[in-house]
Amino acid sequence: MRADFRSDTVTQPSAAMRAVMLDVEVGDDVLDGDPTVRLLEEEAAAWLGKPRAIFVPSGTMANQVALGAWTRPGDEIVCQRWAHITTYEGGAPGYLHGVQTLTIGNRSGRMDPQEVREAIRPDFIHCPSTTLICLEQTHNVAGGVVIPMEEFAAVAAVGKEHGIAVHLDGARLANAVVASGVPASDWTSHVDSVSLCLSKGLGAPVGSIVAGDDAFIERALRVRKRLGGWMRQAGFLASAARMALRDNVSRMTLDHALARQLGERLGALPGLSCEVAGIETNMAMVHVEPEFMTAAAFAAELAKHDVHVMAMGPQVLRFVTHLDVGSPHLEQLVAAATEITAVHA
Ligand SMILES: Cc1ncc(COP(=O)(O)O)c(C=O)c1O
Repeated sequence: MRADFRSDTVTQPSAAMRAVMLDVEVGDDVLDGDPTVRLLEEEAAAWLGKPRAIFVPSGTMANQVALGAWTRPGDEIVCQRWAHITTYEGGAPGYLHGVQTLTIGNRSGRMDPQEVREAIRPDFIHCPSTTLICLEQTHNVAGGVVIPMEEFAAVAAVGKEHGIAVHLDGARLANAVVASGVPASDWTSHVDSVSLCLSKGLGAPVGSIVAGDDAFIERALRVRKRLGGWMRQAGFLASAARMALRDNVSRMTLDHALARQLGERLGALPGLSCEVAGIETNMAMVHVEPEFMTAAAFAAELAKHDVHVMAMGPQVLRFVTHLDVGSPHLEQLVAAATEITAVHA
């Protein structure tokens, strides 16, 4: 059996999801609109508590559409040091929009609101204009942690104080909603735009959403067009995405519980450790002792047992739980890790 803990993006659409993708009304979304895409956009906007939403192919494009809608070349945006936008989007802010990034914080994923305030450039001809502050919830590199509401709201308030827009990379906002019990619309009430991935823990095969008010969406539509992200009969994808948003949010408690069990059991093995208290959603960061082996070497050993995981640093493995892993996969992982670590004891 394959046990794939590399990411929550690896899920296969269920039989029911494949069925709804076949039995769907579609149209040319660019020419006269796709009715199923419209429904998804309305439902996603309602879930996110924003007036309007648009469907895009990926989380990266959702973020980049927002950046393009808020900024002009020469501007500066403020992001967390390890935000996906600055770390894993191929330099897109500079490449696509001609904006530079100023980053704050460390691997904890946190941002001190005062540091964000101090990062805002003065209105001075020598400086770039700060036109966007970005938040990420949950924070990927920090291990799926939920940024506490107090800090989240305080960072967003800095934007309000200075008349600067705030974008939320909410690729895994659904995980934060389930873990915190705070509805999506409460989180998004603090920000001007939000992206949401349907193809991660929610289990759709493809697609993301970007949402905000009318004026934002009008600009976002132009950027999506420029980036080539306006798709034709996208209703096939939208119907899977509708099902994902309707059926797969609350079940994420299972993923979160499994991640915690995984952290507890692996962390108890010799040569490995895990800060279980830090497991808030569907990710467990497991440290491999340097005198034992590297994270990459441990991942290669696990792969021999058909257990797959990503090394996120020289000594850190990131295990991600999702729709396609459950208790049997955890048992397979623990058995493999026990065998590998036995030589260490
Ligand atoms: C926080 C965050 N934002 C955005 C993305 C980008 O999503 P995609 O891979 O669909 O482009 C990811 C993907 O892992 C992510 O973790």
